[in-house]
Amino acid sequence: MVFEKYQKVAIVTGANSGVGFGICQRLLESQGESLTLIMACRNPARANKAKELLLNQFPFANIDIELVDVGCTKSVLSFSAAIINKYPHVNYLFCNAGILSACGLNWKTLIYLVFTDPVGLMERSDSTIQNVGEINEDGMGKVFAANVFGHYIMMRELEKLLSNSGDGRVVWTSSITAYNKSFNIDDWQGIKSKEPYESSKWACDLIAIVSGERFQREENHIASFTTSPGVVASEIGALPVWVCKVRFLVHYLFRFCGVASQNVTAYNGAIADVYAALEPLSRLSFLSRYNSLTNRWGKAYVGAKAIPGYDRVTAEKLVEKCELAYQAFKKNSDLNFTTAPAN
Ligand SMILES: NC(=O)c1ccc[n+]([C@@H]2O[C@H](COP(=O)([O-])OP(=O)(O)OC[C@H]3O[C@@H](n4cnc5c(N)ncnc54)[C@H](OP(=O)(O)O)[C@@H]3O)[C@@H](O)[C@H]2O)c1
Repeated sequence: MVFEKYQKVAIVTGANSGVGFGICQRLLESQGESLTLIMACRNPARANKAKELLLNQFPFANIDIELVDVGCTKSVLSFSAAIINKYPHVNYLFCNAGILSACGLNWKTLIYLVFTDPVGLMERSDSTIQNVGEINEDGMGKVFAANVFGHYIMMRELEKLLSNSGDGRVVWTSSITAYNKSFNIDDWQGIKSKEPYESSKWACDLIAIVSGERFQREENHIASFTTSPGVVASEIGALPVWVCKVRFLVHYLFRFCGVASQNVTAYNGAIADVYAALEPLSRLSFLSRYNSLTNRWGKAYVGAKAIPGYDRVTAEKLVEKCELAYQAFKKNSDLNFTTAPAN
């Protein structure tokens, strides 16, 4: 395909379901034929099914599927090489794919929250018991690798292409569950953490801000933002089907009572990601998190909020660690390197 400068290119990781699929819908809705959408997915069958659904809704769409496992360094490096070979520029990189590795529900906490903090119960994953100590094949914290590090590598590898677009945007899907106390720089990969998901989402916020500052310093025509899809009734967390069904109704009830974080649908949840990608830069700040919100009548909108408890020193330390690990993996990528550098 010959690319014209006006042909925009968007990469959406985890595009085949949930918020990622919602991002694809919103992008195609607003950008039409002038967009080439790259669905960066790990499972070809699921990716093709989602592509078909998008083509039914947007028959004009230019959609490409590129396979990648964001939790595997080699896969991300070869994905990035394929993109560099095929495309002259990338306008939007949506770092959206993510996992919440759960092993059950803490009923005691759940019941306690029903009476003490019902909104918190519906907004956060406090009552989810997460797997602790999971390591991937690269020797990294599994949740951190998929939610953060794979995207860090992707961003670093594609910087030249993002810059070529003249206004490249990197959009990190964080979460309202992310908070500073869930992250410990001495356990930056969240391996010992009881909440590796929250730790990884806070890491996304930190990386988005520090990268945004660097891009501004380097004047390389890239900007980086962090967003939250609020609460979307997706498949993340692999909760039992009956819990999902009950939860679904409660989300709508809370939303009707004015809890705007209850976006419920992926389409509503994706509004902040697409906003951060398409709004003029003069109206955005990389120090804010852009939140998807929905009013009681189902209308989605975006709210910006300064990230509470942002600590610059910790953020810079984290990026330093990611950069060292990235360089080490890259250097050894042809040498069958399988172990992550230690802290
Ligand atoms: N749902 C919410 O309420 C909520 C709230 C806050 C933040 N978020 C964030 O929103 C993002 C999307 O989550 P979701 O709710 O839409 O969940 P979802 O429906 O489970 O979607 C997650 C997507 O990520 C993909 N993915 C997971 N691991 C991957 C890997 N190693 N390589 C490539 N793709 C991978 C999944 O692919 P497969 O289909 O192949 O598994 C799927 O397409 C996540 O970053 C999540 O943390 C969600």
